[in-house]
Amino acid sequence: MRDSPTPWRHGVVLVCDNQRPQDASKPGCGRAQGRALRSWLKQAARQGGGPGAACRVLNSSCLGVCPEHGVAVALEPGDQIVVVDPATDRQALLDRVQAHMSKPHGR
Ligand code: FES
Repeated sequence: MRDSPTPWRHGVVLVCDNQRPQDASKPGCGRAQGRALRSWLKQAARQGGGPGAACRVLNSSCLGVCPEHGVAVALEPGDQIVVVDPATDRQALLDRVQAHMSKPHGR
């Protein structure tokens, strides 16, 4: 085992892209929705500059909230998961990411 510094300075955004079978007992955020949202957010955050441009935007497996509608997004470091409509909440999510990544996180 060895340590290595993270290549991102302000934090990580995890966008769920968990896809469940149609007959699953609970819903999934969806692979296509999660991946499309991650791609958009990554590009928009980079273009926006500021702290949001220096965070990492990644897809993840289930974040544990499994909404009926929308995609779960975790802002790390932090203790909140937001569920967003991937079409109508994009700008609000970008604004939230910018604000979150502007906070000092103990580094
Ligand atoms: S499937 Fe996305 S949070 Fe569980």
